[in-house]
Amino acid sequence: MSKSQVKPRKISATSTPQVISRHPASLLSVNDLSLDDVGSILRTASTLESEDALKRMKHLFKRRVSLLFYESSTRTRTSFELAAKQLGADTVLVSALSSSIEKGESLKDTGITLRALGAECIILRHPASGAPYLLSQVTGLPILNAGDGMHEHPSQALLDLRTILTHLHGPKAAPVSETTLKGVTITICGDIFHSRVARSNMLLLPRLGARVLLSGPQPLLPETAASAGPGIEIERDFDKALQQSQVVMMLRIQAERLAGLNLDLDEYKLRYQANTTRMAAQAGDALVLHPGPIIRGLEITSEVADGPQSAIAEQVRNGVAIRMALLVRALTSKSSSNAASKGKRK
Ligand code: NCD
Repeated sequence: MSKSQVKPRKISATSTPQVISRHPASLLSVNDLSLDDVGSILRTASTLESEDALKRMKHLFKRRVSLLFYESSTRTRTSFELAAKQLGADTVLVSALSSSIEKGESLKDTGITLRALGAECIILRHPASGAPYLLSQVTGLPILNAGDGMHEHPSQALLDLRTILTHLHGPKAAPVSETTLKGVTITICGDIFHSRVARSNMLLLPRLGARVLLSGPQPLLPETAASAGPGIEIERDFDKALQQSQVVMMLRIQAERLAGLNLDLDEYKLRYQANTTRMAAQAGDALVLHPGPIIRGLEITSEVADGPQSAIAEQVRNGVAIRMALLVRALTSKSSSNAASKGKRK
C-alpha cells in the first residue's frame, strides 16, 4: 500500500485539536508548558525522588486518581500508578477490556462516571488523537495525557528530557532555558510518522536549543522537515545522522498503525538497526534511548539495548519521578481545587 493510501494524520507542530476550556494543571501537550514549567517539573521530580517514603506519602494522601486506559501499556501505566501510590493517593484503574467501555460506553460518559465516583484527576491513554481534550472539557478535571493516538505523549518527552539532561549535565536539575541543549544533536530513528513519543519530543527538544534529526524509511517520516516543526531536520542516512549525534532515540515500528503498509524488514534492519557494529563505527559515545516496548533484533539489538550506551532502564525509572511531579502539579496547584469543585458542580 502506498503512503497516500494510508492517510494517517500529518505530523505537524501546529495541528493540536481546538480547545474550548481546560483545567490549567492538565497536561495534554508539551505545548501546554512554558520552559519555566518544564524546569519546575524537573526540579519537583528531583525533590520528590529524594524525599523519604513517609514524607512523600503526605503530598497526595487519600487523593483520588483514576487511570483510564483504552490501549495497552506497561511502562506508562505502571509508573503513573506507582507515582500516585508513592504520593499516598488512591488509584483506580479502568481498562477498556474490563469495563463498560467494552459495552460501548462513550469516553464522555466514562469520564462523567469517574468524576461522580470522586476522581480528582484522570490519566488517559486513548487511540484517538485529541481524546484527552474532550475528557478535559466534559469533566473539568485535570487530565494527564498518557498517549493519544498519533498525537502526543508529553510525560514521555519530559522523562526523556530528564534522562538526557542527567547524562549531559549531571544529576542536579539545572535551570531550563532556550540554550540548555544548544550544540546537542539528537537523532530520532524509526517509525516517526506514527509515534506520539517522537511528536512530543519534536515539539519539546528544539525549544531547549537541540537540533533534532529524523531518520528512517520515507513512508515512516513526515513529508518534509518543515511540516514536522521548527528545529527539525530529516537525514535519511542513519549512519550520517549518528555521526553527528550525542543522543539517539530508537523507536518501534508501530505495526498496529501501519494500515497495510508493508516494510521489508531485512532492508530495515540493514539501514536503521542500532547494533554494536553500527554504533561502534558511527556513534561510540552516543546515549541510546528507547521509550519501549522494544522489539529486540529489529530496531535495536539486545547488545545495544542492554549495553553501556543504553539509558533505557533509566528512562523507565525517570518515568516515576516525572509522573510524581505531574500528579503533584495537577492536584495541588491553586487552580486545581477550584476547577475540580467547579467540575463537580456541573
Ligand atoms: C510508546 C507509546 O505507547 O506511545 N511507549 C510508551 O508509552 N513508553 C511507544 C510505542 O508504543 O512504541
